Amino acid sequence: MASKSKITNNIADRDTPLIKNSWYVLDWSKDVGPELRNRMVINQDLVYFRTKEGTVSVLQNRCAHRCFPLHRSTLHENDTIQCGYHGLTYNTEGECVQIPSALDLNPSFISIHKYPVVEKSPMVWVWPGDPEKADPKLIPDYDWINEDDWGYGTGFYHVKGNYLAIHENLLDLTHFQYLHGAVLGTQKQLEAKVEVTVKDNKVTTYRVNEGEPVPDLHKEATGLKDIPITRHGTASFVTPGFHEGYSLFEDKQGSNNGRTEYKPHILHFITPETQYTSLYWWVFGRNFSAPDKKLDQWYSDVTRKVFEEDKDAIEWIEFQWANDDRPDFMENHVPSDKGAVKMRQIVHELAIQQSN
Ligand code: FES
Ligand SMILES: [Fe+2]
Repeated sequence: MASKSKITNNIADRDTPLIKNSWYVLDWSKDVGPELRNRMVINQDLVYFRTKEGTVSVLQNRCAHRCFPLHRSTLHENDTIQCGYHGLTYNTEGECVQIPSALDLNPSFISIHKYPVVEKSPMVWVWPGDPEKADPKLIPDYDWINEDDWGYGTGFYHVKGNYLAIHENLLDLTHFQYLHGAVLGTQKQLEAKVEVTVKDNKVTTYRVNEGEPVPDLHKEATGLKDIPITRHGTASFVTPGFHEGYSLFEDKQGSNNGRTEYKPHILHFITPETQYTSLYWWVFGRNFSAPDKKLDQWYSDVTRKVFEEDKDAIEWIEFQWANDDRPDFMENHVPSDKGAVKMRQIVHELAIQQSN
């Protein structure tokens, strides 16, 4: 619940206020059509749809008269929404344009919030904070994913846990070996030293290990099977709503027709829904064996299984925080947490700036 959020310690935790002035993914572009949908982003319920012109309109999902949810209302041909309770009608600017019970009254004194929105394939982004600060250039660049030499699988989970737990999970990949086993983990990957770099608010963790085959997930699709390779693994916290993870598999021998480099590159779109629940989309990209729609589907199916293990871990951890009665419990940090701790310090700072 938003009302319970507070700034404590010197690093962010699950109770830290959510960061409003940032872009967050609202939905897949392909799923937004000319019908009303709703979704909660940072404790704000939104109603959205695709207009006749083809743009996406996002408004407050709460009628300014008596709070009726507008996604349970009528979308008219002219892109206005007529409230399903007493009929107040709003245009895409959020302005009330008609009060059916008082047609002689100028309705302009009533309005609902209109949200800045940007469509950047394959996602729709929304800005829940101050509209004046909504600069589209702040949306991370991933246009390359739409190019012909890239293929990708996709997935979505609703996670019953704070969004920082998802970022933290992605910044410490020592969990591969234990949570996912051979699908993603190997012994040397686990033991590799982690380097952390920070640039502005971006935190990157990097590790390299040599002399083992690619993890099981990529054995067939790369064609590398059991050939020993050099594995470079990088994970970056980019913004509160976006994280990317990319690997480089280097086969210096060029065992497959001389090819020496294979790049899986995963886009993680992480939107806090409420203080303790999150929306999590991913695009699991690869620059090998593409285009191949069947393989895209295979990656969607497999990553959904793998990421369910992350979701499960995060939800159990959230359960512990919420229910296990040990008020003096303190987390202990180990060296591989360095990136995650840095990320939590940055979010702590962002929360302080937001409160000033
Ligand atoms: S609640 Fe929407 S018109 Fe009354
Ligand atoms: Fe994981």
